[in-house]
Amino acid sequence: MPLVILLPATSPAHRRWHSMLLLSLKQQGLSVDSQQTTLVPLFTQWLGVTSFGVPEKLGCSNLPLSSRQREMCKKKPYLLSSIREGARLGIQECKNQFKYERWNCSISPNIYTSSQTFSLSFVSSSLSSANSLFGYELSSGTKETAFISAVTAAGLVHSVTRSCSAGNMTECSCDTSLQNGGSASEGWHWGGCSDDLQYGMWFSRKFLDTPYKNSTSYESDVLRVMQLHNNEAGRQAVVKLMTVDCRCHGVSGSCAVKTCWKSMSSFERIGSYLKDKYENSVQIADKIKRKVRRKEKNYRKVPIRKDDLIYTNKSPNYCVEDLKLGISGTHGRVCNRTSEGPDSCNLLCCGRGYNTHVVRHVERCECKFVWCCYVRCRRCESMTDVHTCK
Ligand SMILES: *[C@@H]1O[C@H](CO)[C@@H](O)[C@H](O)[C@H]1NC(C)=O
Ligand SMILES: *[C@@H]1O[C@H](CO)[C@@H](O)[C@H](O)[C@H]1NC(C)=O
Ligand SMILES: *[C@@H]1O[C@H](CO)[C@@H](O)[C@H](O)[C@H]1NC(C)=O
Ligand SMILES: *[C@@H]1O[C@H](CO)[C@@H](O)[C@H](O)[C@H]1NC(C)=O
Repeated sequence: MPLVILLPATSPAHRRWHSMLLLSLKQQGLSVDSQQTTLVPLFTQWLGVTSFGVPEKLGCSNLPLSSRQREMCKKKPYLLSSIREGARLGIQECKNQFKYERWNCSISPNIYTSSQTFSLSFVSSSLSSANSLFGYELSSGTKETAFISAVTAAGLVHSVTRSCSAGNMTECSCDTSLQNGGSASEGWHWGGCSDDLQYGMWFSRKFLDTPYKNSTSYESDVLRVMQLHNNEAGRQAVVKLMTVDCRCHGVSGSCAVKTCWKSMSSFERIGSYLKDKYENSVQIADKIKRKVRRKEKNYRKVPIRKDDLIYTNKSPNYCVEDLKLGISGTHGRVCNRTSEGPDSCNLLCCGRGYNTHVVRHVERCECKFVWCCYVRCRRCESMTDVHTCK
C-alpha cells in the first residue's frame, strides 16, 4: 500500500531533514519513491509551529517558515507566541466547526519538525498516523483548502490583536482614536480598551500573503490567487464581526451613563461565520484572466465579494480512505442514529451502514452534602449505544 508523507522542503534545513527521513525509511527496509513525495505548499507550512511547545526556544531558523517569514520572525521574535497562538486557534476552530462532517479537519501538522527534534520514534509515530496527515486539503484547491486559509488568517489577526490589547506590544495597543468620543446626548462615551485590528491585519497580510510571483504553471497560479483571496476573506470576517460592548453607570444601575468599547467576537463565532461562507463558497474558473471569474457562466455578472470564499476544484466525498490523497475516510467514525444532520449515520457512513456497541458508563450520582464537610455519592451505571460507521 502506498504511504504518503508530506514534507515541507523549502529551506536547506528542511531538505537536510527530508533526506535524513528518506534514509531512515530505507534503513527500515521500506522502499521509498521520493519522486512521489508530495510537498506541502509553502504558504501553509507555518501551521507547523503549533507542534512546538515553546517555539521561542527553537528560534526562528529552526521553525517551518518560509524565508520571508523567517526574516519577519527574526525582526520581531516576540511575535512568535502570537503566531503560534494564531495557528492553534485556526486549527482548533476548524476541528470544532467540522467535527460532525465527513471531512473533520483532521489536521496533524506534527509531521513538521526540525532536524533538532528528529528521531526514529518520530518516524514510526508518523508512519502510524500517516493517513491522517494534513496535506491534501491544503493543496487541493477545494472548499476545504479555502476554509483552512481563511480560518488561519483570521486566527492570526485575532491572536495578534489580543496581544496588542493586553499591552504586550510596543507597535500597537488599544484603539486610541476612539478615546473621548461618543455621544453625550445619548448618554454614552467610548472608554476602556477597544480592540484595534489595524496592526493584526497588517501583520496577518504581511506574514501570510506571499507577493504574487509569475509562476510557470496555471495550477499554482490559481491556487495562489485563491489563497490570497481566502486569507483576506478570513480577515474580513474578523472586521465584520466586531461588536460594541457597553457597561452601565449611574445611580443604582440606572444606566444614565454608559461606557462602550469595541471588541472582537469570540473566535468560535468567527469560525461559525466562516463555516457559513464555506457552505456558500464560489467556484471560480481555473483560468485566471485579468481577474477572478465565476466558473458558472450564467452567473458571471454576479460579483465575487471580498468576503466570499472561493475554490477551483470540487471536493472528493471523503467517504473512503485514500492514502494517496491523505484522506482517512469515515470508517470507524461515531455517528448519530437520530440526527438528521451531517453526523447522521446515513450521511456520515455514506450509506455503508453502521455497527452498534454498548458502552458502559460509571459515574458519581445522587451526591449528598454531609455535615461537615464532605460530599457522599453513589456509583451509578448506565448503558449507551454507540454507533460507528462500517
Ligand atoms: C501578554 O504577556 C503576558 C506575559 O508575558 C502573557 O502571560 C499573556 O498571555 C500575554 N497575553 C496575550 C494576549 O498575548
Ligand atoms: C510570466 O513569465 C513568462 C515567461 O517567463 C512570460 O512569457 C509571461 O509574459 C509572464 N507573465 C506575466 C503575467 O508576467
Ligand atoms: C476525525 O476523523 C478521523 C478519521 O476518520 C478520526 O480518526 C478522528 O477521531 C476524527 N476526529 C474527531 C474529533 O472526531
Ligand atoms: C443525536 O442527535 C439528536 C438530534 O439531533 C440529538 O438530540 C442528540 O443529542 C444526539 N446524540 C448525541 C449522542 O450526540
